[in-house]
Amino acid sequence: MSRSIAGRTHGCGDLRAEQVGEHIRVSGWVSARRNHGGVHFVDLRDRYGTLQIVGDEDASSEARSALADLHPEDCIQVEGTLRMRIEGQRKKDKPTGDVELLVEKLDILSRSARVPFEVQDEIDVPEELRLKYRYLDLRRRPMTKLIELRSRANHAIRCALQEDGFVEVETPLLTKSTPEGARDYLVPSRAQKGNWYALPQSPQLFKQLSMVGGLDRYFQIARCLRDEDLRADRQPEFTQLDMEMSFVDEEDVYALVESVMVRLYRDLKGEDLSAPFERMPYSESVRRFATDKPDLRNPLEIENLTAVAGNIGFGVFESVLESGGWVRGIRIPGGAELSRKQIDSIEQAARDAGAGGAAWCKVGEDGPTGPLSRFLKGEGGPEFMAALSAEVGDLLITIADQPRRAMVALDTVRRHCGELMGIVSGPDRLLWVTEFPLFEEIDDGEWTPAHHPFTSPFPEDISALAEGQKEGIRSRAYDLVLNGVELGSGSIRIHDSDLQQTVFSAIGMDVKEAKRRFEFLLEAFQYGPPPHGGFAIGLDRLYALLFEASSIREVIPFPKTATGSCPLTGAPSDVDPAQLDELGITQKSLKSE
Ligand code: AMO
Repeated sequence: MSRSIAGRTHGCGDLRAEQVGEHIRVSGWVSARRNHGGVHFVDLRDRYGTLQIVGDEDASSEARSALADLHPEDCIQVEGTLRMRIEGQRKKDKPTGDVELLVEKLDILSRSARVPFEVQDEIDVPEELRLKYRYLDLRRRPMTKLIELRSRANHAIRCALQEDGFVEVETPLLTKSTPEGARDYLVPSRAQKGNWYALPQSPQLFKQLSMVGGLDRYFQIARCLRDEDLRADRQPEFTQLDMEMSFVDEEDVYALVESVMVRLYRDLKGEDLSAPFERMPYSESVRRFATDKPDLRNPLEIENLTAVAGNIGFGVFESVLESGGWVRGIRIPGGAELSRKQIDSIEQAARDAGAGGAAWCKVGEDGPTGPLSRFLKGEGGPEFMAALSAEVGDLLITIADQPRRAMVALDTVRRHCGELMGIVSGPDRLLWVTEFPLFEEIDDGEWTPAHHPFTSPFPEDISALAEGQKEGIRSRAYDLVLNGVELGSGSIRIHDSDLQQTVFSAIGMDVKEAKRRFEFLLEAFQYGPPPHGGFAIGLDRLYALLFEASSIREVIPFPKTATGSCPLTGAPSDVDPAQLDELGITQKSLKSE
């Protein structure tokens, strides 16, 4: 690809011995300067690499003094003749390490102020500072590379889906609420004071309406906005590869998503991903791994100790079992070698995850040792140990708590122990988790959709649903999990307005409320909606894993911090009272003086 434009004949990183003797013009930023006994060197950086510029006795004194007067990150244009570096000064590890540009003409395009951090690839800079000066951070090669990879990946997705007959549809940002389980970001309407738009938590309803519209195969690289508590892998605005198809079943959706993933691995990593991916029903995943997103590279599994935990005379287990809680254990082969400090860290991980703690013992030649061991000396002991398939050299960890808390703690402990033992390795493991429950119970006894309320129940479970059953109703929802990270979710949808209303009612949304929120959808379902289903992949998460970045913020050009703020622009910030007035909004004074 030619990079020749008005400001340059070549990219800085493109020049090699073949261009020696040519008159070259390059533009970029001053990366480093050196002065060796009156000979001035500057490393000039642009997106394509770095080139050494030199001003020695062969250069004009004007050009040499211009070179001497540069500061880091000044933006300059240099013309000159490319020449070989002298023997002994060539750098084999750098793409342009054999050559240098002898300066003939130097133009300062713009000066840089003193930079808040050195714009060098290897230097560690606090993240807050990097985000405040993201434009300087982006000049560093590792960041540029991630943004380029993201662009290439988006392109690969568009090519794959266009070739497959998908149509890219842009759906509105100013819209009504889409229930994806988070709070909405609201936008006041000036023209209709007192009314509000919601920013979409996903394009869910519009993609379903596109199916009613006969578009048959929809996709969008879509921005989603959710006001939720942020975690390491969550951003308030993030990007999904959103897809929907008509007349499909689960197999069609799996095949589509697998084809996109295979293409991305091939184009971006040069790796052959094997498809179809593994599959596991939700109930099995929870039973074996205490989570719906297991990292299958981690060989540790959860054992159910309900049948044996009440027989060892341990009061904590007995009372948890009596109140309907879980007692589960994890056997860590070879874990008896872990130090006290490491075992303390396991207990701490369980407590941080909300459990009271973790009772443990080591299994030695002479039997168990450690806090749990005194309960294992009696009658019920051997049976308890057998339930965990305990062997000499093992560490046995148990968690007893109410199911929800126990699940989180077991998942956390399993991940933590996998890391401590160094046993989480091997190729990427992609897994479809299937047959999710349609509803899940939230703390106050209310039921909420486990996915979203447009997900179809299993046909066999519809009559039980109609009779008011909620627990155990299965849904046609599925997740894709990569190495323990939920990459995406989807489902076969409801396309019948009566069934849709049944689901709304089950989650406590009566006809009036459903009509207020989703009348447009229920109405659209009056006009011959096709059966349809789809999927959405969280692209930030996928790209962070695919490009081996340390967090999703690394693959987002301008991300937010954990508190949802943008250090670069200062958003969110207060607004001019006149703007609020125009919108008919009065703001309570919330800020402390
Ligand atoms: P869901 O809500 O599960 O499904 O979202 C799909 C995927 O989007 C990613 N994701 C996020 N990534 C970064 N920051 C966030 N705050 C965030 N929230 C979600 C995850 C997740 O798996 N409309 C449905 C899809 C469908 O049914 O077709 C939906 O949005 O990787």
